[in-house]
Amino acid sequence: MAVLPIVTVPDPLLKKISKPVDKVDDKLRSFMDDMLETMYAAPGIGLAAVQVGKLLRILVIDIAPEGEDPNPMYFINPEITWTSEEMNTYNEGCLSIPEQYADIERPAECKIKFLDYDGNEQHIHAEGLLATCVQHEMDHLNGIVFIDYLSKIKRSIYVRKVKKLVKEKEA
Ligand code: NI
Repeated sequence: MAVLPIVTVPDPLLKKISKPVDKVDDKLRSFMDDMLETMYAAPGIGLAAVQVGKLLRILVIDIAPEGEDPNPMYFINPEITWTSEEMNTYNEGCLSIPEQYADIERPAECKIKFLDYDGNEQHIHAEGLLATCVQHEMDHLNGIVFIDYLSKIKRSIYVRKVKKLVKEKEA
């Protein structure tokens, strides 16, 4: 396994649409293992493949609370098949927008259809943090990051802060 470099805003890659995976094989699983290790190392609770430079429709998520056993979830070619009318607001962050947070409103619950680590089709009904996290990560597959929901001015402030942060880390 390997920790991969994470792409940060304003990298144009983050605006691209990711492509569906056509085969779930050992090579793909090894990449997903790397994604998970990268997410844990960051640390974060969700990561989309585009964030490590691959335009593939893959997410890894682990929302297990600190101190509890890890519960890695892999979503290949995920599709949201239903969202609740009820909305929920979370203070979201993103590994591609390090150390910045904003309240984002999304449907409180959703149903997701996807392929798992072994390539088998699964359906889950997500609520709470998982529902938010899946929707946030799904946005990445469609070239959207959470700051795209903010005003242009706010967004440019966030991007400027991240650029500064990345520069400081490189120095
Ligand atoms: Ni994100």
